[in-house]
Amino acid sequence: MEMSNHIKTALKVETIIDLDTLYDRAFNVLKEAVHNGSKNFGLATGGTMLPLYERIRNSELDFTQCESVNLDEYVGLPKAHPESYISFMKQQLFNEKPFKKSNLPNGEAQDPHEEAARYEALLQKMKLDFQLLGIGENGHIGFNEPGTAFDSETHVVELEESTRIANARFFNSLDEVPTKAITMGISSIMRAEQILLIAVGEKKRTALEALLKGEVTEEIPVTILKKHPNVTVLTDLVI
Ligand code: GLP
Repeated sequence: MEMSNHIKTALKVETIIDLDTLYDRAFNVLKEAVHNGSKNFGLATGGTMLPLYERIRNSELDFTQCESVNLDEYVGLPKAHPESYISFMKQQLFNEKPFKKSNLPNGEAQDPHEEAARYEALLQKMKLDFQLLGIGENGHIGFNEPGTAFDSETHVVELEESTRIANARFFNSLDEVPTKAITMGISSIMRAEQILLIAVGEKKRTALEALLKGEVTEEIPVTILKKHPNVTVLTDLVI
């Protein structure tokens, strides 16, 4: 489904070359959301989020009255594996900044499709105030790979080879990188009241360029954000 290039977009793009300043700004966007009463947070994993989670760990922010939902989880990777997203979140955030309740898809579920349905039902009941997003080199958000329908709900995905290669840096070898994941769908992400997208590093240039200059197309999932009313994009890339 292709749409016209000439849509009005409310994207707020802030280009900040210095990464410390960029992540300070990211922290402040989140802090403001907390102070404005956001209670339900959509969280993301990936290297991009590390400096932000570090700032949150070292802050006064308190999430004990808040609930979190994560975007995605690998299928078939034991929860205790250091690269499972549940391990990542515990290590980077939850151990020090616990939420009243934190939800992630269960990558160890016997039937991943049933698990995706359970997660979707949970999301449908929730008003997501704030969604944190990174971006894949191919323009994926969560693990919604190119070609995913914009009206998709939580589902099981076959990871693209390029995504597995990009994420292999966290594993001992490419073979260890799972081939499947459960991801929140694009429609769930779009239901969030406010979105903060962080795109740093040259590897994200093509995807970011597509968002800022290209047309809205399912071939580059991140481009859907052009149609969201409240997205802040923080980047160190001059496009
Ligand atoms: C992963 C995650 C995404 C993340 C992206 C970028 O595959 N599923 O949620 O935004 O890839 O990761 P990184 O920040 O490490 O570049």
